[in-house]
Amino acid sequence: MIILQKEAYAKLNLTLDVLGKRPDGYHDLQSVMTCVSLSDTVTIRLDTGNAWRVRSDCPQIPQDEDNLCWKAAKAYFQAAGIPPQGLDVFLEKRIPSQAGMAGGSTDAAAVLQLLNSHYAALSETALLALAACVGSDVPFCLFGGTALAEGRGEILTRLPDLPKYLCFVLVKPNFSVSTPALFRAIDACCSVRRPDTAAMCRAIDEKNSVAIGQLLENVFEQPIVNHYPIVETIRQQLLSHAALGARLTGTGSVVFGIFDCMEKAKQAAAAMRGSYPMVLTASCI
Ligand code: C5P
Repeated sequence: MIILQKEAYAKLNLTLDVLGKRPDGYHDLQSVMTCVSLSDTVTIRLDTGNAWRVRSDCPQIPQDEDNLCWKAAKAYFQAAGIPPQGLDVFLEKRIPSQAGMAGGSTDAAAVLQLLNSHYAALSETALLALAACVGSDVPFCLFGGTALAEGRGEILTRLPDLPKYLCFVLVKPNFSVSTPALFRAIDACCSVRRPDTAAMCRAIDEKNSVAIGQLLENVFEQPIVNHYPIVETIRQQLLSHAALGARLTGTGSVVFGIFDCMEKAKQAAAAMRGSYPMVLTASCI
């Protein structure tokens, strides 16, 4: 039996803009994304008979073909022209689901990477193209680091790493929202706050952490705050605990604060822990 294992890292959207609706029903995005140290552990066992299984230590995660890992593995075997063999995927979950942190997408990206590390059937470019078929955030999760994502999320431009001392507090309130419903809300809405993506890219280039904090922006935040004012409450709490900036990530519901040292991040997390279902710290990777 072959056992393969890797960490699958969560992402945060430092900026997230929706540029317009496309003929295929998706939206063109522009987003500066970064990977953070919070991760799931993905373990694959190959040659386990013919059956496929996706299991997890988290009961809310689908354990069948509805899991993105299953979809990723199926797409991989098909694209690589390898007859599917027995597959057992185990997900040790730490990334919250329905959080805007790409928990499902990063596990799927890890499955693609692990399968390709074993079979070496696809080039990096082919693997990225396959990732885009699995889900919009999967290409970035494969790419890692810090990047500008455009198109549906599959056009990726590498950006410099964030300053290593930056760290994050992640706060998950007790609600989740439907991503397609939010895209529909954005289509119907004519005035939302939009990020200055170019300025964020410059701030990252210049390693200007104060500007990075000030330029955090997410087009989905305002429509979500209208329904869930708790998002703004969390943001203000993070800012009052010395965050350089604080925003919703993706389509939520996690709100993150960015801090210039882990000590401040830990103090903020300690002050807010107990008030929300999940409060964690994370660092850059
Ligand atoms: O690609 P993924 O399955 O992650 O997308 C989930 C949903 O989010 C899509 O069905 C679509 O409604 C919406 N979406 C979009 N444009 C994108 C990404 C996602 O409209 N670029």
